[in-house]
Formats: sequence, C-alpha cells, structure tokens
Amino acid sequence: MRRYTELLATLALSAGMALHAQTNEIVIQTKKLGAEIQPTMYGLFFEDINYAADGGLYAELVKNRSFEFPQHLMGWNTYGKVTLQDDGPFERNPHYVRLDNPGHAHKHTGLDNEGFFGIGVKKGEEYRFSVWARLPLGSTKETLRIELVDTKSMGERQAFAAENLTIDSNEWKKYQVILKPGITHPKSVLRIFLTSKGTVDLEHVSLFPVDTWKGHENGLRKDLAQALADIHPGVFRFPGGCIVEGTDLETRYDWKKSVGPVENRPLNENRWQYTFTHRFFPDYYQSYGLGFYEYFLLSEEMGAAPLPILNCGLSCQYQNNGSKAHVAVCDLDSYIQDALDLIEFANGDVNTTWGKVRADMGHPTPFNLQFIGIGNEQWGKEYPERLEPFIKAIRKAHPEIKIVGSSGPNSEGKEFDYLWPEMKRLKVDLVDEHFYRPESWFLSQGARYDNYDRKGPKVFAGEYACHGKGKKWNHFHAALLEAAFMTGLERNADVVHMATYAPLFAHVEGWQWRPDMIWFDNNRSVKTVSYYVQQLFSENKGSHVLPLTMDNKPLMGGEGQNGLFASAVYDENPDEIVVKVANTSDTAQSLDFTFKGLGKKQRITGITVTTLSSSDLDADNTLDDPEKIMPLVDRTDINTTEGWSTEIAPSTFCVFRFSKK
Ligand code: AHR
Repeated sequence: MRRYTELLATLALSAGMALHAQTNEIVIQTKKLGAEIQPTMYGLFFEDINYAADGGLYAELVKNRSFEFPQHLMGWNTYGKVTLQDDGPFERNPHYVRLDNPGHAHKHTGLDNEGFFGIGVKKGEEYRFSVWARLPLGSTKETLRIELVDTKSMGERQAFAAENLTIDSNEWKKYQVILKPGITHPKSVLRIFLTSKGTVDLEHVSLFPVDTWKGHENGLRKDLAQALADIHPGVFRFPGGCIVEGTDLETRYDWKKSVGPVENRPLNENRWQYTFTHRFFPDYYQSYGLGFYEYFLLSEEMGAAPLPILNCGLSCQYQNNGSKAHVAVCDLDSYIQDALDLIEFANGDVNTTWGKVRADMGHPTPFNLQFIGIGNEQWGKEYPERLEPFIKAIRKAHPEIKIVGSSGPNSEGKEFDYLWPEMKRLKVDLVDEHFYRPESWFLSQGARYDNYDRKGPKVFAGEYACHGKGKKWNHFHAALLEAAFMTGLERNADVVHMATYAPLFAHVEGWQWRPDMIWFDNNRSVKTVSYYVQQLFSENKGSHVLPLTMDNKPLMGGEGQNGLFASAVYDENPDEIVVKVANTSDTAQSLDFTFKGLGKKQRITGITVTTLSSSDLDADNTLDDPEKIMPLVDRTDINTTEGWSTEIAPSTFCVFRFSKK
C-alpha cells in the first residue's frame, strides 16, 4: 500500500489559520453502491419575490406596459395631451393611452417610462422597442420619436439612443424599432413623443434586449438565466412559494391567465408588494409575461424536470388564518380542473384543448411533466381535506404524474407532526419541507433524514437556507453550513429526491427577503457563496451513494467528529469517486481517506480538489466584488491502491474527485 499525503497548505494559509490538524480516518466503501441519486436531486426554486420576475429574470424593461396597474399611469410620466382610454384591443387589458396634438408647433405630447429602478442598457447592445398603435379614422400617418434618455445628463444631449417610428394604420397593429445605445446606462428612461401634429393611440409598450437567453422574444435576461443553467438543475420549481397562495384567492397565481399572447395576459398583484411593511413596494405587480409556458420552456432548456405548484383552494394562511377566505371543499372543482388542464397543457396532444394552446405558443411537442405540487405552506386539517380530492382526480386521470404535498411552513413542530402522517395517509409521492433556520439548526440536523421512513413518501427539501442568527443576509458561514447539511441530504438520497435552496433571486434595490442565491441590479449580477455550494453539489452529485464513515459512524459533525461533515458518491460517468467534506470547525483538520473495495489491479490515479474557503466568515460576493469567494480547483496526479491523506483548512468546503484506473 502507498499512502499519499498532500498538505493543502495554501488553503490553510489563505484562511490565515495555524495548522493544528487532528487525525480523522475516513473510510469509503467503494464497492458498496448505495441508493441511486435521483436526476432531480439538486434543483432550483423560483418565485417572483424580490423583483425576481418582472424587473429581474423576465427581460421586459418597461413597467406597467399595458397601463393596467390600479393607478393606470404608475411608472409613467406624461406631458402634453395624454389621455387614458379603456376600450383597447386586448380584452383582459383594455386600457391604453391617446397622444394628441398639444396645440402648438413647438410643444410635444408624450410619456416617459421609468422602468424597474430605471432602465438598464448596455453600450453596443440592441434593444427592441415595440408598441401596439393605431390612428384615428381619416388619419394616414403620424410619427413618434423613441428615445433612451439620461434624465440626469449634464452632457450635450439627454437622449443617447433615438429612432423615429411611423404609425400608418387605422387598425391596431404592432410596430417595432431597434435602439442601439452608444453608452452603458444603469438607470435610463424610455421616452416616446409625437413629432407630427395628429393623434395616436398606444398600447402594450415594450422594450426588450434583443440578446435574451436563447434569443427568445418575450425572453429572459441572459446573465440571470445563464446563472440558473450553470447550476445544471435537475428540477425547476415554479411559480413559488407564497405567491401560489396569494393574499386572497383573487391574487393567487392563476396559471391559465399566464399563457397565450402576452398582450392579453392580465395583471396580478404581487403579494410581496406589501407583505413586509418595512420593505413596501407599491409598484410591485406580476405582468404574467413570464408565465407557465416560459417556465416550462426554461426547464426544458436547462435540462430540469418542471415542477409546477398549484393553489389547493387555500389563500395564504398567515394572512387569512381562521377566516373564510378559502374555497369550500365542495367548491374545489374548478381548482382541480386547473390541475388536470395543466397536465394537458404540458403533456397533451396538440388536438387537446390545452395541448393546442401550448402548440399555438410554439411548442407542439410535450414538455414531459412528471411532477405536480398541490399547495405550498399550508397547515391544519384545511389542507388534507382539500388535497384529497385533487389526489383522487389526478391519480384517476394521470396515474403517471407524481404528486407533491406539503408539511407546512416549519421543519418540525405541531403542524409538521400532523401533516407528515396525513401525507402518508394520502399517499403523496413527495413531501415538501421548508426550513429557513439558524446556524445551530443546520449544525444539529446532520442526521435529520437517517431515520425517516424508507417506505413512505420521498422528501422534497423545497425551500431552505441558513438564516444566520442576527445575520439574515448572505455570508460565507451560512453557505458553509448549508454545504455541511447537504451532505446529510446526499447520504440519504434514497429518501431525499429533491432539494432546492430558496429564494433564488433578489434585486439589490427591491428585495423583501434575504438571504438569496443570486443578487442583481439593472445591468449586473452576482453569484453568492450559497450559489457555488448548490452548483458544487449539483455538478458532483454522482450516480450512487457510497458508505463513508469515521469510527464506523457517518460523518456529520457530532461528538468526536471535529466539526466535519462528509458524504461520498460514486459517479459512473466518468468512473470516479466523489467525496464532499465541510470543515465547520475553526481549526485545520487532517483527512486520512481509506478506500475499501478497490479491485486488485485498481488504483487511484488523480484527485481534483475544489475548495470554497474564506478567512472572513461574514464576507460574500457583491456586485462590486463578484469574485471575492470562488471555488478554486486544483488537480494532482497520484498513484495509490488504498489511501490518501490531506488537510482541510478551517471553515472550508471541499469536493474531492478521485479518478481510478
Ligand atoms: O422563499 C420565500 C417564502 O418563504 C416563500 O414564498 C414561502 O413559501 C416561504 O415562507
């Protein structure tokens, strides 16, 4: 036997700590293939919170584009003769504006849109302005000027991109023009004004970057969508979260309103507008421009299984506890039909009603929906009594679809203890668990799933994040503890089939909830350390669990385990062993790996070590310093039949990939 010793001195030094290694003998059984790791194991949770959709991932730059906010001109600044009309071409969005001659050759009529915290544009990129417009009968031609304006400009010109647009029809028609800004501007304004002397009606005013993710019109902001795809998620949950429930049933997410032509998708209030009075955003609405078709398409293009969550007939129980603001069990039919229709929308033949809607939107082939969630953070008997009829109807019509139920908003306690047995009784396939918990919880929950019932429903850790005690913002230590905890998810991959950190996105000027995985402003985005933890687990999830022990016990930071958490997997493609280790202690630790079960002629030939470490536990990446804490990759060739020794720096997460021959 030859044991290799590799001191990761650079890591330890970079963490500024002395090397006080203790000996930790870690044994990996390479031949004992455990549970298969589900392709859905690590995924993404998306909710329109923190301006994640409108103003975020959804690349539309105009706010209140259809003039349907309750204050119809919110986000717009008008001048000259602008009047609001309400008999427009789109039934569910009837309002539009009329621009009239202001009455003097030197005056202008028009309007400016402020965007979401301004309109961010980049030098040299193309932006597609589009508008539905018409002329009054008798008129044949009017001209508009479309500009991107720097309202605070001290330069020669306010407008830094401008085009003319001719309107030439008495019927409603869509017009478009491309703007090419000569500068990068994070907070510009879109200006539209009449340059001729007549009257023009304008509806659904829109501005998108041409270069959206995958180039779709009505598409997604490229940097944000790419960040999601780079996680290689196995599952994509949408549209939330609490917005599934709504503040009341009126404001619940209604998927049927989110499909079809965007111009006719009605506005919905966003409950995060006013959920926290200290983070109140009166202009936060859902345009539904990012709707269920777009969510399915994104899932497909990222290679993730789509997981829609639907309302179960209960509006948010936090906001309506004990009230009658819910659907009576006997009146659930239309809600249940929504679930069945959604399955048809996703998977149905193009000749079915909803399959045709999908096909007409550009996707005749099915989206291969396999999972559906009913209810979000529900509790009490109100939930199972509503869930039951959904389950009966879905099982009857679609036995192939797996159903996700909920264990409520808490990771333990009365409601949780009531709902889990109920979920077993109802035979849901997976149970959604949520835990936004402090450091102590994450450190103590390494064995959480070790004793779960192997015959019951599987676990979907559907929303979780370490919320530091007194430190509810992103920081390295919280991410490290998430990594430590995730080794327990991985070790129990026979029972945990899905896990998604939450929430996903936050606009730096518009957040309601933190920490979040990806932060952004109008032109930039930054991946937090929590993002890299998720990415490292996802990219190294392997195919099967391998037993990994220290003193014959799983390694989960307990007594005598020196703050170490670890899991091991076999990756059949390529043929490698992957070991993830989180050192949550403040001292360096020796790691003596022993590989049991290698074939007679087999040897470990190389190790790739990916390390996430920071000497400042309170630090994280920021928009101004986006690469402060990044995974560092180091590759070493070795040649051993049995063991390898190294050292892991304090407060460090490492992924070791061992290649074999
Ligand atoms: O992720 C933010 C919120 O946390 C979700 O909307 C809700 O499900 C949970 O309470």
